[in-house]
Amino acid sequence: MQQNRLKEILQEARTQLQKAGSLPEAEELRVRFLGKKGELTEILRSMGSLDPEERKELGQAANSVRKEIEGLLEERFAALKDAGKAMRFKAERIDVTEPGRPAALGALHPITVTIEELCRIFMSMGYSITEGPEIETVFNNFDALNAAPTHPSRDMTDTFYITEDVLLRTHTSPVQVRTLKRQSPPIKVISPGRCFRFDTPDATHSPMFHQVEGLLVDEGVTMADLKGTLDCFAKETFGASTRTRFRPHYFPFTEPSAEMDVSCFKCGGAGCRVCKGSGWIEVLGCGMVHPNVLKMRGLDTEKYTGFAFGMGVERIAMLKHGVEDIRLFYENDVRFIEQFR
Ligand code: DAH
Repeated sequence: MQQNRLKEILQEARTQLQKAGSLPEAEELRVRFLGKKGELTEILRSMGSLDPEERKELGQAANSVRKEIEGLLEERFAALKDAGKAMRFKAERIDVTEPGRPAALGALHPITVTIEELCRIFMSMGYSITEGPEIETVFNNFDALNAAPTHPSRDMTDTFYITEDVLLRTHTSPVQVRTLKRQSPPIKVISPGRCFRFDTPDATHSPMFHQVEGLLVDEGVTMADLKGTLDCFAKETFGASTRTRFRPHYFPFTEPSAEMDVSCFKCGGAGCRVCKGSGWIEVLGCGMVHPNVLKMRGLDTEKYTGFAFGMGVERIAMLKHGVEDIRLFYENDVRFIEQFR
């Protein structure tokens, strides 16, 4: 009777263990078959009522079943542990040959790119770069540049004043004054930087913008030097077939003064939308440094002459890249900025 039951228990343990798919399930079976409340223990416990012969026989049989179940359990536990490990290895596997995720690359701002390009051209002609502060004195921004006390650009409605004597520079020309104070001729510098004017933003105006200023002072400098230099600059910037023309103009700090136009790089001069039909595009202001500016520094104006020029960086960038609204440069829309990479 009990012997049969033992066989059944062993058989049952075998089938159940086959089915156990996890360590907790196997542990549950261990308790069920070998635990203190297990059936096998119960059978062993009930042997007290048997006669010694029977007891011995049943005891041996029960112990061997117990051993067998222990063996089965051990096997099953080992197998489940191995399977678990294999699964973890599979799940945690790292494929070092998989391509990485690229980090997004930044790029220089188009205004920075344009400034660097302009500087590169003048540096290749032997100019060095100098910079001045964005907060300037009224003296350097206007007076030392020969601007009449009544000059309209001094007006509160055109200029950001910080105090009566200090302002946000309205152009990079005060760097001419600083350079003349600091250096003796020969002087050959360009100065890029930020400028400010009391303008309402629209497609072509911004209260903050950039200029590149140029100044050359030496013995015997003539208007021909100015024209040759700026013509070379125009060809480098807008293409080798670019022609230039100089129109008389007025600036307080140069005499004579001129504005330089370049032949339209889009239509070659025939007339188109870019040049508004004229075939020419205005790109900068220039002139021979006014004797009053040189005298301010105590230079002998019979011996020394010079030329100066100033251009708007945004304007040049807009022309070169066909940008129709200056405000695009400051909105920092990545879709716009990215195109200049
Ligand atoms: N400062 C002038 C402006 O902001 C530009 C300029 C004109 C600069 C003639 C010069 C120059 O150095 O010679 O409109």
